[in-house]
Amino acid sequence: MEKNDLKNDLKRAIYPGSFDPVTYGHIDIAQRSLKIFDEIVIAIGDNRNKKPLFTKERRLAQITEIFADNPAVRVMAFDGLLVDFARSLNIFTVIRGLRAVSDFDYEFQLSCFNRRLEPRLESFFMMTSEKYFYISSNMIRLANDMNGDISDFVPPNVLADLRAMRQ
Ligand code: COA
Repeated sequence: MEKNDLKNDLKRAIYPGSFDPVTYGHIDIAQRSLKIFDEIVIAIGDNRNKKPLFTKERRLAQITEIFADNPAVRVMAFDGLLVDFARSLNIFTVIRGLRAVSDFDYEFQLSCFNRRLEPRLESFFMMTSEKYFYISSNMIRLANDMNGDISDFVPPNVLADLRAMRQ
C-alpha cells in the first residue's frame, strides 16, 4: 500500500444517542474518541422508551453549534433503526460511552442485537471520565425542572434552552 492510500483511509465512527439534552459527559466522549477516529458523526436518534424533551431539530441545532469549530465532527439526526442509518453512511463502527457497571447489560444487549441485524456493525466502548460518570440526561432534566443549578453539566446554549423551558 502506498503512503497516500493510508491518507484516504479515514477512520470514521458514528456516536449515536438521544442526547436529550447533550451533556459535558457526551461532549467528552466525542472529543476523546477523536484520538482514535479521524471523523465522527454524532447521530441523534430516538429511544422510544423515553419521552423527548427537546425536538430532534432543536437537539441537532444545539449540538451543531457546540461542534461548529470542529470539522472532524458531523452532526446528523436519524429516524428508524441505527443499523439502517449506519448502512446509509457506510460507516459500521459505533461509539458508546459507559458510565458504570449498570450500563453494561443494556449496552451489551444493544450491541449484540444491532450486530445480529447488521453483522458488519462493531461497537466501540469508551469509559466516561470520572468527572461525568454520575451524570444522566434525565437527572439534568429533573434538576432543571426544580430550578437546580445545572451549569456544570451542560454547555451554555443548552443551559439557555433548558432554562427557557422552566415553568
Ligand atoms: N455522559 C453523561 N451521560 C451519558 C453518557 C456520558 N458519557 N453516556 C450516556 N449517558 C446517559 C445519557 O445521558 C442517557 O441518560 P438518560 O437515560 O437519563 O436519558 C443515558 O446515558 C443513555 O442515553 P443514550 O446514550 O442517549 O442512549 P439511549 O438509550 O437513550 O439511545 C440510541 C440510544 C438512540 C442510540 C438507541 O436507542 C437507538 O439506536 N435508537 C434507534 C432505534 C434502534 O436502532 N434501536 C435499537 C434496536 S431496536
